[in-house]
Amino acid sequence: MSKTYRIAVLPGDGTGPEVTAEAVKVLHAAAGKHGFSVETADFDFGGDRYLRTGEVLPASAVSELSAFDAILLGAIGHPDVKPGILEKGILLRLRFELDQYINLRPVKLYPGVETPLKDKGPEDIDYVVVRENTGGLYTGVGGVSMKGTAHEVAVQSMVYNRMQVERCLRYAFAYARKRDRKRTLALCGKTNVLTHVYDLWERAFHEIGEAEFPDIRRDYYHVDATCMWMVKNPEWFDVIVTGNMFGDIITDLGAITQGGMGIAAGGNINPDGVGMFEPIGGSAPKYTGKNAINPLAAICAAAMMLDTLGEEAAARAIESAVTAVTPTMKSMAAGRMGVTTTDVGDKVAQGVA
Ligand code: IPM
Ligand code: MN
Repeated sequence: MSKTYRIAVLPGDGTGPEVTAEAVKVLHAAAGKHGFSVETADFDFGGDRYLRTGEVLPASAVSELSAFDAILLGAIGHPDVKPGILEKGILLRLRFELDQYINLRPVKLYPGVETPLKDKGPEDIDYVVVRENTGGLYTGVGGVSMKGTAHEVAVQSMVYNRMQVERCLRYAFAYARKRDRKRTLALCGKTNVLTHVYDLWERAFHEIGEAEFPDIRRDYYHVDATCMWMVKNPEWFDVIVTGNMFGDIITDLGAITQGGMGIAAGGNINPDGVGMFEPIGGSAPKYTGKNAINPLAAICAAAMMLDTLGEEAAARAIESAVTAVTPTMKSMAAGRMGVTTTDVGDKVAQGVA
């Protein structure tokens, strides 16, 4: 009997439902070609539900979602909901409670896609950022006092323990080994200023690298320099590993170098649990219902999901189908693709071998 993967689909807000529909279409096409099947169940978490019910995420959500093989997320963010409520209450809460401690963000320039980097092509822009996803500044440790006065104090701490750092580093080293390109892992930190947190990262990086991954070359860059080299010499990078906040920032920079949010995918991964895969852009509400949003980021997220589930050949087949479609599009930007959302999904689905 062929394997069936049960996928929870969280279409979310704005254009989220349009892009997840195309990603699911492509998943079914890949399943048909690669001898497995995909069964989906939709969950209506997002801004509309919150405005209707006053509840961001029902109490049962985490346990219900844990029963699936993976989660596909469209987009979270609603113009009528104050920023932060849905992001924290849905996206960050699921990342934390499902212990998705890796945020895997490939920075890959597909053929025919315009990059703002002068004289750089697909052979130069092809690396992966491993962003730690459950710690650091995102833990919300801190507080505020004397709010609203001239003496107001606000603290938000960058918190890491050795276990969190180690498990992230081990994943990144193993990923560089499996990727087998330059066999190089670059730690992106700030050891010259954050002398507690990034000292912990740096020591663990070299200790684990030397003892367990001697075949992987180790580089170190401060985060500010990382940004500079991502623009000037992206071809230097293979796999970059970093903390949560730096990873958030540098992956938006990486995304724009690969053609923008229309094509940038991310995976929130718990290697021993349930992962959640998403386009890293937002809900783009002004394009809702116009069949004009780029579904490729969601489609690439679905490919990453299959790769993580062990369906590597199917994941590669989707990637090569995407590679054939990008040169036929005018732009990766919503409203300027020269084709519709559903056209892109159809073409990729038909191209999956
Ligand atoms: C991302 C987003 C989120 C983050 C926001 C929406 C909370 O920017 O996935 O990169 O900061 O992690
Ligand atoms: Mn971000």
